[in-house]
Amino acid sequence: MQTKWAGKNLHYYECIESTNTTLAGLAMQGACHGTLVVADRQTAGRGRRGRSWESPAGKNIYFSLLLTPAFTPDKASMLTLVMACAVTRGIEQVLGENAGMAADFLELSKPQIKWPNDILLNQKKICGILTELHISPGNADEYSVIVGVGINVKAQEFPEDIAGKAGSIEELTGVSLSRKRLTQSIMSAFETCYELFEADGDLSLLMDEYNGRLINKDSQVKVLDPKGDFTGVARGINAAGELLVELPDGSVTTVYAGEVSVRGTCGYV
Ligand code: BTN
Repeated sequence: MQTKWAGKNLHYYECIESTNTTLAGLAMQGACHGTLVVADRQTAGRGRRGRSWESPAGKNIYFSLLLTPAFTPDKASMLTLVMACAVTRGIEQVLGENAGMAADFLELSKPQIKWPNDILLNQKKICGILTELHISPGNADEYSVIVGVGINVKAQEFPEDIAGKAGSIEELTGVSLSRKRLTQSIMSAFETCYELFEADGDLSLLMDEYNGRLINKDSQVKVLDPKGDFTGVARGINAAGELLVELPDGSVTTVYAGEVSVRGTCGYV
């Protein structure tokens, strides 16, 4: 790692249930800020909303990063968006290093973000982020955050239920990447993005970059809200990482990631 702290304390496993779960165990034993767990395969990889995350061997990146922030836990959900910026920066950096003749083509296939935490290339999901908060019993101010990242790197067959929306970096760009180099590059980018986040305790210094990559920006979206679905036009995030959605009457509502998910009006994007 070419970092000060992110991923310096690195635990690699060939096969474990879930990097998030293994890292939670290490955190209980006192693992330090920036500890990284990487696996080649997961037997019980977890996605958001109780879903599973396909984790075959030899193809993809599965890692989890431990953070023990000094700021209050209510800010922790923003770390998902910080990681989304870091992953897009890392992918862009390493694609650029490997593109060769394909460099012009890569200009057209920049990684984009589907709020809050999916990374896409050419409209296909290539990465998901699962952030989990662990609050110490008896002391709500003592907590850690585990940010888990799964990236589809090599060409592969996806299960039928996600085949239409999932893709891999190799298949979508024709560029073959080193998983090790990409993980290293994301850790460097994360360290920089985390420092920008810490400077103001919010996303004000990353917001323009995030919004510049937002796939749904200024398009019609459907917000799936437990209190009732609605449609509007996504206008980007605010400094708290909430999505601003303009309603048909011209008013703007903020949408919080923990409560809702967002779709394009004709499908996933
Ligand atoms: C999503 O639903 O989009 C989030 C997927 C997160 C998957 C990663 S793979 C590494 C880490 N360990 C897990 O069990 N899940 C996350």
